Amino acid sequence: MKFAVVGSGTMGHGIAEVLAIYGHQVKLIDISWDILNRAKQRMEESLRKFYEKGTVKEDPSVILSRIEMSTSYDVAKDIDFAIEAVPEILDLKRKVFQSLDEIAPREAILATNTSSIPISEIAEFTSRKDKVIGMHFFNPPQIMKLVEVIPSKYTSEDTANKTVELARSLGKVPVKLRIEVPGFIGNRIFLRLMQEACREVESGEASIEEVDSCARNKIGLPMGIFELSDYVGLDIDVDLWENIVKRGTSDVPCKLFKEKVARKELGVKSGKGFYEYPGNKYLKVKLPATSKVDPARLLSLAVNEAAWLVENNIVKPSEVDDVMKYGYNFPKGLLEIADELGIDNILRNLEDIYNKGYSAYKPQDLLVKMVKEGKVGKKSGEGFYKYA
Ligand code: CAA
Repeated sequence: MKFAVVGSGTMGHGIAEVLAIYGHQVKLIDISWDILNRAKQRMEESLRKFYEKGTVKEDPSVILSRIEMSTSYDVAKDIDFAIEAVPEILDLKRKVFQSLDEIAPREAILATNTSSIPISEIAEFTSRKDKVIGMHFFNPPQIMKLVEVIPSKYTSEDTANKTVELARSLGKVPVKLRIEVPGFIGNRIFLRLMQEACREVESGEASIEEVDSCARNKIGLPMGIFELSDYVGLDIDVDLWENIVKRGTSDVPCKLFKEKVARKELGVKSGKGFYEYPGNKYLKVKLPATSKVDPARLLSLAVNEAAWLVENNIVKPSEVDDVMKYGYNFPKGLLEIADELGIDNILRNLEDIYNKGYSAYKPQDLLVKMVKEGKVGKKSGEGFYKYA
């Protein structure tokens, strides 16, 4: 198949690379040759790592030869599928989608990798609303297996099915939402993790390092919550936080993240965020081996969010778990972990924090019901899952 990838930054260059690894022809479009050449260098470095490990068999130069770079949309005239990955600015998305709509063949699907702008708003920039869809990759897209597929109210079933098939053919795990919700699945849960992490620190319950040590050493996550926030980029975190809350999700007071962004401490990409990254390169953060933070408390708000998603039939428990396993490299699904920690423990923490005046922690009916019925997780034989 022939693809256009618009935007060659962190996500765009990675998506183009994945498509080329799987044998597709890719037109990589961006606004300047400086940016495109930097993308080429990043793809080369990444492909070299895969080649040396044997995870890709073809020589990197052969894979790269399938990627044509351009500063003009004209190269998109014969594509089958486009993926947009430009910054999250509505006017920019408008320009990209109007240009693609004008140049790409009528039957081409136009996907967006946006994490915060409603897909239906983007679809309205085009004359093919049924062929516009969300295809949300996770950072780094070369490694993370998750792709959230988000149909808007206009998207046809055929477009959704083709996008799911495409994700699968790229070795990814697609999770399709029944209906679009702000932040989709992954970022809604990631937001809840950041909010609780921030609340613990700002209320003096724990330090940043203690929160992250709990995440990594007790729960087994690949990164601490603040560490992951630095990795994603604190400007991106604040942006997705504000976008989700603006569209009706309850907020938790937190100054830490915005203060960092105001000081231009954006995480890995600026060399400093909650931690320091010499040379603006990610290096695993050093953390204390032990922590007083309770995993059930740190995950409580995230589990409450997952319960909301399940209650509202947006995804199933196993799909929430796929999102966290394949999008964030959780060692187990969030709800599997919740079952192990005990739904009663999760509920007790939510009630405790809610009673301190944090309205966002109001326990979801589903959790209250589960505890009332004695379905408190692994120890009772049933929680989100059944145990023999
Ligand atoms: N290309 C090729 N290989 C790469 C790579 C890339 N771009 N990035 C990392 N790697 C390789 C490394 O070379 C390394 O290989 P070896 O094990 O053979 O040495 C391997 O991946 C692991 O990398 P590191 O040793 O540098 O560090 P790590 O062990 O901590 O793993 C990580 C890095 C895979 C990113 C891991 O920390 C992780 O899974 N973190 C969680 C990431 C996550 O949650 N992402 C989602 C962010 S949210 C999002 O993206 C959505 C949004 O809209 C904001």
